[in-house]
Amino acid sequence: MALVSSTPMLKQARESGYGIVAFNVHSLDMLYAVVEAAAELESPVIIQTTVGTVRNLGPDSVVSSARAAAEKYKIPVALHLDHCTEFEVIVKCIRAGYTSVMIDASMYPFEENVKRTNQVMEIAKFLDINVEAELGKVGGVEDDIVVSDEDAEKAIPFECKEFIKLTGVPTLAPAIGTAHGIYSGDPDIDFERIKQIAELVDVPLVLHGGSAIPGDDVKRCVSLGMAKMNVSTELKNAYSAAIRDHFINEPDSLDPRQYLKFAKEAAKELAKSKILLVGSQGKASSTKRFIHQ
Ligand code: 13P
Repeated sequence: MALVSSTPMLKQARESGYGIVAFNVHSLDMLYAVVEAAAELESPVIIQTTVGTVRNLGPDSVVSSARAAAEKYKIPVALHLDHCTEFEVIVKCIRAGYTSVMIDASMYPFEENVKRTNQVMEIAKFLDINVEAELGKVGGVEDDIVVSDEDAEKAIPFECKEFIKLTGVPTLAPAIGTAHGIYSGDPDIDFERIKQIAELVDVPLVLHGGSAIPGDDVKRCVSLGMAKMNVSTELKNAYSAAIRDHFINEPDSLDPRQYLKFAKEAAKELAKSKILLVGSQGKASSTKRFIHQ
């Protein structure tokens, strides 16, 4: 099937109490690994790329590979641009065929965040495109965006309500204590805050920093309304570790089909474990029906 907007799949997930994983892919091989994992579990899935990956691969090649994978495996696949601060890159990706974009203006004061989000909403409202915005500041490192522990800030519940009223954004990523990258201890997730936000806004909420969060914590976040979970670091690490292990055992190996095969398998296994964690396995056909209503 064609690439779909992530709006209906996330809405359905939030209403039904499960989550959808959005995997950051860094190569076309990783993209296929994720879609194959989702197809084997009959799950809807979101592929996402950072601005760095868009620059590296080019938006057209990401879009054509994502389209080809969605058509081949016949599951609902959305293609999302993660953490973008530049309006021009957002427009470029939408024109290329991305079906979802994040405008990250969380580094600006509330009013400026509203203004920049509305600039993107002006375009998206004429198209079948999901828009995600962030409130508060998620800590850690994601491509060029670096937020230190001191600068990380949790989202304020009443501001979330106000933000949705002023922008109409269909998906919101409130900072609630998770961070991008691997944690030194367990993350300090503010479940009470998620609950308060979810009581005030009914749009699907997004859990950033999905790598290495203990399974029970992920399930609790999903049950509270976090309908999208972003996973980048763990996928990248699994893929890279398989290549590194191959070269430790076979330092003279020269056939990329050999080591990429192991890397793809490792990425697939990791992707499957995250899909099972949020409970979206078996939801592909009900998502398709929901999309076509
Ligand atoms: P992790 O790298 O911690 O998985 O975070 C991913 C993310 O939130 C991308 O926006």
